[in-house]
Amino acid sequence: MKIVIVGSGGREYSIGLALSSESKVSKIYFYPGNGATCEIGENLDCKNDDEFVSFVIDNDISLVIVGPESPLVDGLADRLRENNILVFGPSKNAARLEASKAFMKEFAKRHNIPTARFLRTSSYDDGCNFIDSLQEPIVVKADGLCAGKGVIIAQSKDEAKSALKDMLDGSSFGDSGRLVVIEEFLDGFELSVFAMCDGEGYIVLPAAQDHKRLLNNDKGPNTGGMGAYAPSPLASSDIIKKVEQNIIIPTLNGMKNEGNPFSGALFCGIMVVNGEPYLLEFNVRFGDPECEVLMPLFESGLLDCFLGCAKGDVRSVKYALREGVCVGVVLASKDYPYKSSKETEISIAKNDNKNTFISFAGVRNDNGKLLASGGRVLVCVGYGQDVLSARNNAYNLVEKIEFSGKQYRNDIAYQAL
Ligand code: AMP
Ligand code: GLY
Repeated sequence: MKIVIVGSGGREYSIGLALSSESKVSKIYFYPGNGATCEIGENLDCKNDDEFVSFVIDNDISLVIVGPESPLVDGLADRLRENNILVFGPSKNAARLEASKAFMKEFAKRHNIPTARFLRTSSYDDGCNFIDSLQEPIVVKADGLCAGKGVIIAQSKDEAKSALKDMLDGSSFGDSGRLVVIEEFLDGFELSVFAMCDGEGYIVLPAAQDHKRLLNNDKGPNTGGMGAYAPSPLASSDIIKKVEQNIIIPTLNGMKNEGNPFSGALFCGIMVVNGEPYLLEFNVRFGDPECEVLMPLFESGLLDCFLGCAKGDVRSVKYALREGVCVGVVLASKDYPYKSSKETEISIAKNDNKNTFISFAGVRNDNGKLLASGGRVLVCVGYGQDVLSARNNAYNLVEKIEFSGKQYRNDIAYQAL
């Protein structure tokens, strides 16, 4: 069968790489893909979504997997489904779980899903009153999508009020900040828990931990993620059971009962406080770089999981996960995350270690030469029986890849060692 993966990052590359070894997959297209996805399949150069939808209809495509949130929030999955195409990814309405933090928080409240105490408001005065009722630090969030930058953790009430003012008047995040969520700070450890969902049924994948800060020891600015590993030993079976019972099941039931069944990857950003999981955020897609460490953990059945979600019968799918751990180390360009960097050539030394994988992201193919084209360039993934061996494999791969300005963290998976 022919499939299409929508997106251009390391997440989409890793899905493509994992599916390329499935015997049922005859061809993988990427829309738009990157400078390395064209080695696994074919990049589509459709000018816009209209052209893309026509391509899918005319070319006997059996499944479309949508990687990033923005096409989902724009309704791409709905348009494909209206044309009877199987899609992995939620509808525009269901994607509000990520697109609007206010929607997500109100939804959690309606369905008794544990989350930080909050106020949603567009009023500066109401916001200040609520801030005065909280202990520092105080979390102020812009309602809409802000490319991962819309959350301010304020150390004082004055800082929280000034962040609130800048959001409400549009100066920090434009229209995305004219509605805000102010919430209490939860102190614990974070987990990323992913469920592959079909509107009602779901399967839970091993819990991952992301590393959002740029520098070692969780210092420096927030990024899209500088590394990840899974499964995390911090995610006990008790915690995962609580995430399922208290968060995933009520969310799927609530979305269905409200007329917007959720299918696709439900990414639960969790803070565990004294053994209790609280929902920080939902994303309606796989995390990046979490996806890059989850895909290689599938031993079999990955395609069927995607298809089961798209068809509505994921509960009956047979799949197997490998024992062991994957660690992924992001190699970013010199000026990430501040500004774009000059393109530089990537060189990759010979590598016969079967327990390593590269997921390419910010790369461009210049007549066969692979260039680092900015942002997060690629992810070095190592697999091993335990965290230490997976991590050694990942960092051995890091040593084999060079480009000018390469920056990465040395401490990925430190939480598990
Ligand atoms: P979000 O996009 O809502 O996940 O927020 C981004 C990051 O901000 C999270 O990954 C947490 O590290 C942090 N964060 C968000 N909300 C809270 C909260 N209520 N308490 C503590 N940290 C938070
Ligand atoms: N790594 C976090 C995210 O994809 O949002």
